[in-house]
Amino acid sequence: MILDPTQPGALAQAADAVAAGELLGLPTETVYGLAADAENAGAVRRIFALKGRPASHPLIVHVAGSEAAGHFARQVPDLAQRLMAAFWPGPLTLILARREGVADEAAGGHTSIGLRCPAHPVAKSLLAACAARGVHGLAAPSANRFGRVSPTTAAHVAEEFADVLVLDGGACAVGIESAIVDCTRGQPVLLRPGAISRAELEKAAGCRVRHPDELAAPGPQAPGTLAAHYAPRATVRLMDGKMLKTALELLGSEAAHIAVWSRAALKSASRKLILRRMPDNPAQAAHELFATLRAFDQAQVKLIWVETPPPEIEWEGVRDRLERAAASAAGARE
Ligand code: TXA
Ligand code: MG
Repeated sequence: MILDPTQPGALAQAADAVAAGELLGLPTETVYGLAADAENAGAVRRIFALKGRPASHPLIVHVAGSEAAGHFARQVPDLAQRLMAAFWPGPLTLILARREGVADEAAGGHTSIGLRCPAHPVAKSLLAACAARGVHGLAAPSANRFGRVSPTTAAHVAEEFADVLVLDGGACAVGIESAIVDCTRGQPVLLRPGAISRAELEKAAGCRVRHPDELAAPGPQAPGTLAAHYAPRATVRLMDGKMLKTALELLGSEAAHIAVWSRAALKSASRKLILRRMPDNPAQAAHELFATLRAFDQAQVKLIWVETPPPEIEWEGVRDRLERAAASAAGARE
């Protein structure tokens, strides 16, 4: 059921449901989450079950601010404090050492915990209403089945999980999931790129932000960083502009089953082909990415051809999601 948060009593109803151990579709500025009281073990287990997600893959806990972060984190190093000051509330998740015995299920048994303070006004109001009911944080993975495309509207969540109450916060402004920075290893490690660029993170951190491959000792695994993820039903192929043009020229009657997301304006002799332009601005492309993949799936195409995004750092988040969607297509889906 979709709930309009501007209706009187709607936020209280949603917060009551969370405090009673129910699940809730939660709008954030990145993507919609499937939320529950992070300290209610039964509710958190239901998130894993509903998503079909392995219990060892930890969930992000959403908090109202750095104070609530102290409830879940054993220690907040200076580095994390600098990043919080710069980007919270916002699309940044920090991995911190977990306070023992707190949110065990959400953390998937790991000794660390992922914390994020969302900027979406509905998420903020809900977190405040939950805090008033003694709920310190909301465990919320993206509200999609494991490995699939993340939802960026309330309707997408309702499509995935028909029985879950969803707060409608409109279309997510950012459109791709938060950047995840591991702060437990002395130097920041970017586990998942997001809308905040590596350059911006480095400026706030005052040091280089590492890639997980740069570190010798294996760190925490993030399932969002598996080679295959974010998979639509159709097969995704990434191609450079030239290759895409050639492929279109060679198309015959198969065109009806193909959708194209290209940076260049393309033409095709076939009117059956679905052609959409990828915005020139990386933030706008991120905003449209998952909704575009879902729309192509709805049109029941078999193939999605995407022009490879530019190599610049600002495109890292979009490129990352598209590469994983294409890797799923290549048969690497977990
Ligand atoms: O933008 C977002 O982050 C969205 C919205 C709903 O906030 N949430 C989201 O959650 O993307 P999810 O569960 O789809 O992705 C969470 C990622 C996973 O890759 C998970 O492995 C990683 O965060 N993660 C969570 N806790 C972790 C931990 N303690 N150590 C390492 N990775 C962790
Ligand atoms: Mg996800």
